Amino acid sequence: MRTLKSLVIGACAGMALALAALAPAAAAETESSMARGARLYDKWWAENKAAKPTGDHPAYPVKGGKYGGDASWRCKECHGWDYKGKDGAYAKGAHASGIKGIQGAAGKDPAAIAAVLRDKSHGYTETQLSAADASDLALFVSRGQGQLAKYLAADNKVKGDGARGEAYFNTLCAGCHGQDGKKVKDGPPLGSVADNGAEMMHKLLNGQPGEAMPALRALDHQTAADIAVHLVKLPAK
Ligand code: HEC
Ligand code: HEC
Repeated sequence: MRTLKSLVIGACAGMALALAALAPAAAAETESSMARGARLYDKWWAENKAAKPTGDHPAYPVKGGKYGGDASWRCKECHGWDYKGKDGAYAKGAHASGIKGIQGAAGKDPAAIAAVLRDKSHGYTETQLSAADASDLALFVSRGQGQLAKYLAADNKVKGDGARGEAYFNTLCAGCHGQDGKKVKDGPPLGSVADNGAEMMHKLLNGQPGEAMPALRALDHQTAADIAVHLVKLPAK
């Protein structure tokens, strides 16, 4: 026969188990993985130091195009800075390739997205993108695309407060880039690339592949938008 004491102990143990099941697991920080995934999306071999690919990507349809060769292996070349592919800024012009965006994959199971990267359309090898790389990319595609439309006007210009952006830029960025955006000598003056709003949001939220540049995605994304508005005012040369 079970004693009262053993019953009480049993009930307590049961309650502790039930509580443990209810308590949230310590949430792992994922912003940095999403930022890294986004930098791989930008130019994976600059980020993971894999060999630069050669020849056109097998799925790149524009034969002899200006953005063939290694450029055609960048996710952004087929799917766009705005993640909308043929339905976004790459609908026309030299970057047009007729490929759909990745927006439809937002919210999908990251494991299924990682598998897409090994499929026949993509064919990325483990040497090009390791399992860890594919996992960061998938996390970005699934959960990191954010609400770009909230910050971008239809003409691909960013909406924000340029005066706030100036203070952010001069304190966070000018150490490397200079207040005029011209101090990094191996890159273009920031004022000369600033008119591509979707690209600026992508780079400001996630950083520059292979560089020690900060990623702002853990902050309110309006911070990146405000800076992007300021960048347009910097000298283009
Ligand atoms: C050379 C062009 C090309 C490149 C580069 C490319 N993709 Fe794709 N991607 C495609 C094509 C083609 C499809 C299939 C579209 C369809 O089903 O109509 C696709 C589909 C996808 C999908 C599924 C979209 C959906 O809505 O189901 C995801 C996610 C994706 N690609 C992610 C990536 C990532 C991440 C990279 C970079 C590592 C990448 N792609 C590089 C051509 C490309
Ligand atoms: C630790 C130094 C460092 C800091 C801090 C930094 N950057 Fe950068 N950034 C770089 C380097 C290096 C590059 C690569 C230049 C190149 O090769 O194009 C770069 C590239 C860029 C580019 C892409 C230019 C292009 O090639 O299209 C943009 C945009 C940019 N930075 C904006 C910013 C902004 C905005 C901030 C502040 C939030 C910032 N950076 C902070 C070092 C830095």
